[in-house]
Amino acid sequence: MITINENFLKLKAGYLFPEIGRRVAAFAKANPAARIIRLGIGDVTEPLPDAVIKAMHEAVDQMGRRDTFHGYGPEQGYEFLRKVIVENDYASRGVKIDTDEIFISDGAKCDTGNIQEIFGLDNIIAVTDPVYPVYVDTNVMAGRTGDCDANSRYAKIVYLPCTAQNNFVPALPKEKVDILYLCYPNNPTGAVATKEQLKVWVDYAKQHKSLILFDAAYEAYIRDPKLPHTIYEIDGAKDVAIEFRSYSKTAGFTGIRCAFTVVPKSLKAYTKDGKAVEVAPLWNRRHCTKFNGVSYVTQIGTTAVYTPQGKQQVRRIIDLYMENAALMVKSLTELGYKVYGGCNAPYVWVKTPNNVGSWEFFDLLLQKANVVCTPGAGFGAAGEGYLRLSAFNQPERVKEAMDRIANL
Ligand code: MLT
Repeated sequence: MITINENFLKLKAGYLFPEIGRRVAAFAKANPAARIIRLGIGDVTEPLPDAVIKAMHEAVDQMGRRDTFHGYGPEQGYEFLRKVIVENDYASRGVKIDTDEIFISDGAKCDTGNIQEIFGLDNIIAVTDPVYPVYVDTNVMAGRTGDCDANSRYAKIVYLPCTAQNNFVPALPKEKVDILYLCYPNNPTGAVATKEQLKVWVDYAKQHKSLILFDAAYEAYIRDPKLPHTIYEIDGAKDVAIEFRSYSKTAGFTGIRCAFTVVPKSLKAYTKDGKAVEVAPLWNRRHCTKFNGVSYVTQIGTTAVYTPQGKQQVRRIIDLYMENAALMVKSLTELGYKVYGGCNAPYVWVKTPNNVGSWEFFDLLLQKANVVCTPGAGFGAAGEGYLRLSAFNQPERVKEAMDRIANL
């Protein structure tokens, strides 16, 4: 008899974004004339930068000639891409990362979801609440949690509430945890963490031999020059942290797929009897077994992001999204909403009026304004009473969404 992985039966509902997609599709079917504006899932709308397009065209042409054709590449990524990452994302900020500490992949979602495979099932996981659902669901699937309660919280996970009171940067856990997921600039709250705040976490991890899984997918949106762009700007972080980066929101690659993970060579985890083991070879082993690398054409396109033209074009696109975020913050604040984020992140976190439930407000916005948001409750119990608006859309559509919300 075939049996299933029963951990999957613990999962509360469908994955958040398909569930929203389902509701929006049902609404659109019932209301074919509605002009829906999507500020829900953080999916980019601007076309790829010219520098990327040009580089990819050339790479496609190379693939069409025997002498420049590329078959399987290195699973960890081509050296030419890892080199520009090291120079531009780390050395430029005074951080020494070696190219063999970089693992190119097809997305930070996959990497943040897959990384848990190389760690023991007994580890106690801590997540912020609200949180990007991938961190939680992948640990549920692996069997690292108990059942889900009525507040959508799983037994054995430590939840660290992020509230307006703590500026959405949580306090340290009271109990000892082994693996901590942090995401800054934060999805979904748009909050940022200062160097001092990250240092507290790095010190905790050092003290408890814990690991920080640091999701920096929105790093490109940081405007404030005082904020750290990588957790490795904090002394000692290379001994306790893995960092995830993505080109999805940086260079408009949600449909192209390219990201990378940094696993420093000095990072150690432990066997049950306390023997220290390097983590990077484990991740490398997993990567080589389950992944054949990102396509040559994509990696050439990604490398173009780091050229002077690429950087300038990417900056222009990010500026456009950040102008959307600024407009949302301004309009909603003027309308009397309590609004957070949107300054160093492409997400705006909005308190629902009169404590209306997140899903109720989601339905209201969809039905009355034909605007799609993401209900805060979808990111965890502490997200109840909030909604997330994404800045990824065309400016005129964002403006229209704000006008419609004003007329609610
Ligand atoms: C989001 O909307 O939270 C993101 O687009 C989801 C993702 O990056 O997987």
